[in-house]
Amino acid sequence: SGYFTFDPGFVSTASCESEITYIDGANGVLLHRGYPIDQLAEHSNYIEMGYLLLNGELPTEEQYREFDYHVRNHTMVHEQIANFFKGFRRDAHPMAVMCGVAGALSAFYHDNLDIDDPENREVSAIRLLAKMPTLASMCYKYNIGQPFMYPRNDLSYAENFLYMMFGNPCEPFEVNPVAAKAMDRIFMLHADHEQNASTSTVRLAGSTGANPFACISAGIAALWGPAHGGANEAVLTMLEEIGDESEENIQRYVDRAKDKDDPFRLMGFGHRVYRNFDPRAKVMKETCDEVLAELGTGNNAKLKIAKRLEQIALEDEYFIERKLYPNVDFYSGIILEALGIPTNMFTVIFAMSRTIGWISHWNEMIKNGVRIGRPRQLYKGYDKRDYPA
Ligand code: CMC
Repeated sequence: SGYFTFDPGFVSTASCESEITYIDGANGVLLHRGYPIDQLAEHSNYIEMGYLLLNGELPTEEQYREFDYHVRNHTMVHEQIANFFKGFRRDAHPMAVMCGVAGALSAFYHDNLDIDDPENREVSAIRLLAKMPTLASMCYKYNIGQPFMYPRNDLSYAENFLYMMFGNPCEPFEVNPVAAKAMDRIFMLHADHEQNASTSTVRLAGSTGANPFACISAGIAALWGPAHGGANEAVLTMLEEIGDESEENIQRYVDRAKDKDDPFRLMGFGHRVYRNFDPRAKVMKETCDEVLAELGTGNNAKLKIAKRLEQIALEDEYFIERKLYPNVDFYSGIILEALGIPTNMFTVIFAMSRTIGWISHWNEMIKNGVRIGRPRQLYKGYDKRDYPA
């Protein structure tokens, strides 16, 4: 009974009001609290941007110092959490582990779970932001059989993450500033993207009054799929599969992507909202060139294949007609690989980066008051029938 709008995939349904992020997909515009992403990527850093997303304005110097101090001082996780990791197989996908341990945080931090109190919401936001790099690096260390590294609060957010990933207790570790800058930029470019599948999942879970740690673990699960956050891993797998740089070989893969009988798609291409260049992809491509040049590492063959693939696709009628352009993840994997990060950690890094976006949306929703999210359906099943007696 009643009248419903039928909108599978939410192509034309606004599920909420929000003041955080604006996207104009036709013109390739992305603004966070009004500031263009390319300006933020150039002049800001992830912590300042995190403050902006969460609070609505850029911080004053003092507000920045305070926020940064709190994030640095919440990086450690409860010692019991290490045991939690040990329940997983060593070869489990790090995203599977991440879903579990991030959700488990609510069992450790129940002192602040009264979400109606803004101070509690802020502490939870800071805890999540601060602890995600610790959990992410623990996923990696567990996977390769090395000891977990405690965070170092004298380091910046990106430096500390690289330290916990690549440091070990036996020798001093020096953070490469080029790598830290690139890492911070990757965090910024993934920080928020309005009502995407994972953010909508966080909001829907949060609309029931569930605690923020549980909501974020729902978001991590939604992000995992290859149509969403899993795309960065899928791009690298695709570039590896293409392998050979020859023109005919690359063309063959573009042709496969156009063939409707072939499930192959160009990963890192296309977007629900952007019908133009993803502005994040432009910054990512520049960063990719800079990082590979400065570090002198990375598999340049993959970069060459990616660039040629992009060129061929952008000149092809199929991609032009459908307005399919490279998205944020077309180049991010190449940078992450150059930084020494294994492919199965790519989506974990996306989850870490998106945590500030998720928690900012959750906070906005709870602050403004929310009605439980409860979509309706068009029922297509049987009419009433009798159980065979
Ligand atoms: N390769 C080949 N064809 C494509 C691609 C692609 N990557 N993306 C879309 N198309 C075609 C699609 O087959 C359809 O063609 P037709 O009209 O003939 O049926 C048309 O373009 C429209 O595509 P759609 O699937 O209806 O678009 P959507 O808005 O439902 O899906 C998408 C968007 C991102 C899931 C999709 O473009 C895709 O699968 N891309 C590859 C995966 C990817 O890179 N995802 C990362 C998104 S950005 C990071 C993030 O925010 O998570």
